[in-house]
Amino acid sequence: MATLRLENIVKRFHTLNEDTIKNFSLDVKSGELVVFVGPSGCGKSTLLRMIAGLEDPTSGKISLEGSDITDIRPSRRNMAMVFQSYALYPHMNVRENMAFALKLAKIAPNVITERVEKAAAMLNLTAYLETKPKHLSGGQRQRVAIGRAIVREPQLFLFDEPLSNLDAALRVQTRIEISLLHKRLKTTMIYVTHDQIEAMTLASRIVVLNNGTLEQVGTPTEIYHNPDNVFVAGFIGTPKMNFFQATLSRMENRALTLKVADQQTIEIGRDFTEVASSLKVGAPIILGVRPEHLEVISNPKATAVKNKPTLTATVDIIENLGSTSYLYGTIHSHPMANKTQSETKENAKIKEHSKIKTTSLAKENPKSIDPMLAETRTHALPGLENQISNQNAITVRLTGDPATLAGRDSVSVVLDPERVYLFNGEGKNIFSKVRS
Ligand SMILES: Nc1ncnc2c1ncn2[C@@H]1O[C@H](COP(=O)(O)OP(=O)(O)OP(=O)(O)O)[C@@H](O)[C@H]1O
Ligand SMILES: [Mg+2]
Repeated sequence: MATLRLENIVKRFHTLNEDTIKNFSLDVKSGELVVFVGPSGCGKSTLLRMIAGLEDPTSGKISLEGSDITDIRPSRRNMAMVFQSYALYPHMNVRENMAFALKLAKIAPNVITERVEKAAAMLNLTAYLETKPKHLSGGQRQRVAIGRAIVREPQLFLFDEPLSNLDAALRVQTRIEISLLHKRLKTTMIYVTHDQIEAMTLASRIVVLNNGTLEQVGTPTEIYHNPDNVFVAGFIGTPKMNFFQATLSRMENRALTLKVADQQTIEIGRDFTEVASSLKVGAPIILGVRPEHLEVISNPKATAVKNKPTLTATVDIIENLGSTSYLYGTIHSHPMANKTQSETKENAKIKEHSKIKTTSLAKENPKSIDPMLAETRTHALPGLENQISNQNAITVRLTGDPATLAGRDSVSVVLDPERVYLFNGEGKNIFSKVRS
């Protein structure tokens, strides 16, 4: 049985003329650490507050261990919530802060001492039990706030962005502590964040939210390898997935040819039997490839890569992070391989000219330019525009020494046919089986 069940939850604030949460249903199993992730304003805190009882759903049902708690007041729900602002009582030391709720609940003093000291040991706070919050670091204060939740021994922990006030190093450290805590306590937890790295590292299951709607639920591995749509694919993974606007120019069971960025034609050899019948030549496709699944090659003519799908890109910038590095570039409409510098400039002029022409034509009749693009835009998922806004941009994770690419204007980038995603014009994943 699910520990927590949310059924058809809708929330509409009186001041808004749109539902903030739209028909949301979810089962959270006992002992799971479920992470709600999504952009700012998508409704994560609202959902968590409804679970805690701090906000009433407009309709729908919430049950805990099989009993309907929709109308039960927060203090009777046996849940403990940790917020981003830890709001400790400044005049109380760590011990008093952690014991406060238990004192109010009239728990026996010896039980309080035992629980507080056990939680303090778990959180490395034993040495600070008699210290006031102003003498603690941000990370220590957040740990006190977590300790305050632990001592209540709740059935369910609710965390609302508990790490956002901490600096980068402390965030990583506290994230690991929360993971360890979950392992030790085995209590069910719901954790809200807009940080996809926290979601990937902490979650038993991730719930991706967008504009009050549940986009996808799954384990981090499922969500990373098989995102349902462009929104999820672009939100999970860092740097984010590359999206290229493409047109299907040939379709066979074992190969598919795409025209990418208007000009570059690539053939992807793979078993496409599953989608072959549902795709039509001429259909708009969004080709998705993660930066870690691309490879810059020095010799495109080498036999090992000759038959692999290859894109040509200009190099905008290379970011060296020490352990790894990334190339940020642009897929240009006209492949530049083997072109001279003057030809390149000429190309740029032609491009600029056609851009002006396109813009003025588009004003007269937007669909006359590129019906495929117009069609794609009309049916876009909410957020799709943002996700593929710079559709010719490309990010590649580099495997070798980035210094070898110094001074290069353009590079050949090879795609792994087993690790490409195909999305339709509405942003839905139509070929999901990416092999890990
Ligand atoms: N009490 C309220 N009254 C009116 N609108 C509200 C109220 N609380 C939240 N909202 C609106 O509901 C939407 C969702 O807010 P919510 O705080 O749940 O987002 P969130 O996903 O937690 O965002 P963030 O990552 O920024 O914390 C927002 O548009 C917000 O303005
Ligand atoms: Mg929030």
